[in-house]
Amino acid sequence: MKKQLITSALPYVNGLPHLGHLVGCLLPADVYARYQRQRGAEVLFVCGTDEHGTPSEVGAAKEGMDVEAYCKKYHDLHVAMYAGFNLSFDYFGRTSSDQNKEITYRIFHGLEANGLIEEKVTQQVYSPDDNRYLPDSYVMGTCPHCGYDKAKGDQCENCTKVLDPTDLINPRSVLSGSSNIEIRETKHLFLNLPKLEKELEQWIETKKGVWPDIAYSIAKKWLKEGLRERGITRDLKWGFAVPRAGFENKVFYVWFDAPIGYIGITKQWADERPDERRWEDWWMNADAVRHTEFMGKDNIPYHTITFPATLRGTREGWTEVSFLKGMNYLNFAGGKFSKSAHRGIFLDDALAEFPADYWRYWLMANAPESNDTNFTFDSFAMIVNKDLNDVLGNFINRVIKMTVANFGAEVPPTGPMTDAERELYQSLDTLIADYTKYMDGLEFRKAMSVLREIWVSGNNYIARMEPWKVVKTDRAYAGTILRTALNLIRLFAQLSAPVMPETAARMLAIIGEPATFVWPTEKAAVYLDGVPAGRSFTAAEPLFQKIPAERIEALKVQYKETEA
Ligand code: MF3
Ligand code: ZN
Repeated sequence: MKKQLITSALPYVNGLPHLGHLVGCLLPADVYARYQRQRGAEVLFVCGTDEHGTPSEVGAAKEGMDVEAYCKKYHDLHVAMYAGFNLSFDYFGRTSSDQNKEITYRIFHGLEANGLIEEKVTQQVYSPDDNRYLPDSYVMGTCPHCGYDKAKGDQCENCTKVLDPTDLINPRSVLSGSSNIEIRETKHLFLNLPKLEKELEQWIETKKGVWPDIAYSIAKKWLKEGLRERGITRDLKWGFAVPRAGFENKVFYVWFDAPIGYIGITKQWADERPDERRWEDWWMNADAVRHTEFMGKDNIPYHTITFPATLRGTREGWTEVSFLKGMNYLNFAGGKFSKSAHRGIFLDDALAEFPADYWRYWLMANAPESNDTNFTFDSFAMIVNKDLNDVLGNFINRVIKMTVANFGAEVPPTGPMTDAERELYQSLDTLIADYTKYMDGLEFRKAMSVLREIWVSGNNYIARMEPWKVVKTDRAYAGTILRTALNLIRLFAQLSAPVMPETAARMLAIIGEPATFVWPTEKAAVYLDGVPAGRSFTAAEPLFQKIPAERIEALKVQYKETEA
């Protein structure tokens, strides 16, 4: 079995993450990492903050802080929020680390040695009103391809085409809004992508029908347009200094060292316990590793073209992406989440309103896999009230109450069995096989809908068998039904654990099991015999709380859902 290297796109440190970031990469990566661990795989799940670039410089200036202190402050805030959502990173690092600098230089020198780095004089946007060079993303204007009027100079977020700031119609400074913009000549380093185009094309072709369509097709679109040399340096202060004479006032472009951050962060992790961990086991031993990357669609070109080219160009045999899970966008009431417009739900607010598992389940059940999807409080409340309360929560409450009322707080012995149990086992075997298949295939919406069906099958079993009636005439068989149901709680906990780890731990606690998560691999008939008769259990608080209609309306107003 291969080692599972799992990475989520590294969130920009400036500003704070919202539900769109969570579902776009962090959360599905976490669900997958938890699933793989439960399967017994050796997992390394790394992520971290993406810290370089102009936004950090500008953000720090706004807060009157130096950039390093600013990045540390926001890094810590990211860490706290992700802990609140129970994201199970093995390491959450930083792209500004010494380790990342070391790997970035090594890769840069490797590319240099292979003749893939070139110096070119370029035209750079200078804003006299801002008194600085403007990076591509700080120039805004109209996209020449689709007409979107808020396109940035590096990429149009509407049509995903990669742009140069000079392509924009009516360019202006994002910082000051000034359209007084000069073009100055300055020297920069470029990665020669055209030299690698052929092999990238062949490699991407092997992903057809293997990766989600969105990942393959975005890579393909880039290749069709023809690869151009890509600038990897910038006129900034904050970043890794460029180790070449004549480039003293420049740093590496944030998109050069950010994905290298996956490796740098792995080295941060390894450096903490060098006796037992080697970053090379994960990055220099490609055949032994399966690398799964998670990201939003705007990140796909960098992870299918520029980053793979960066690694390949060194000819050092770095681990490449094996499976790329690209996600569409989560919108809020039909529009984009936007920090500046205060629209959407940021992670700290989300956690203050509801437990993490409510969000985790809603987001995974509605993951924007094949299309953009919309967050609405109506949908959120409906899923929490129906799937979590009425189906899963209610099942557990009823089973516990009925057992306590009729057998005391102990698992009753199994009496005779009937076709009903055999049918239940059979249908569970099919459902669990489907669920496992979808988790292996990273098809999360389908996985979540099967998980819900699994919970429903438990509810249906109880509703059909009516143990509250059976107990009056056939106490032994009532024991069978309730012991089966208590065993279902264990099964449901294990199957729900990747998406709802806190709830799963509580479910296991109810039936006296430790919070050890192991994927059920036995047949249902065997697995559902796991909780022994006679074990005492604890009746607990209900697992979920319904969201009342008034609360939903209040949330819509508070988060401006209706105005969006
Ligand atoms: N910071 C980027 C974003 O939020 C993602 C960088 S992914 C990395 O879009 F791998 F390059 F770091
Ligand atoms: Zn466009």
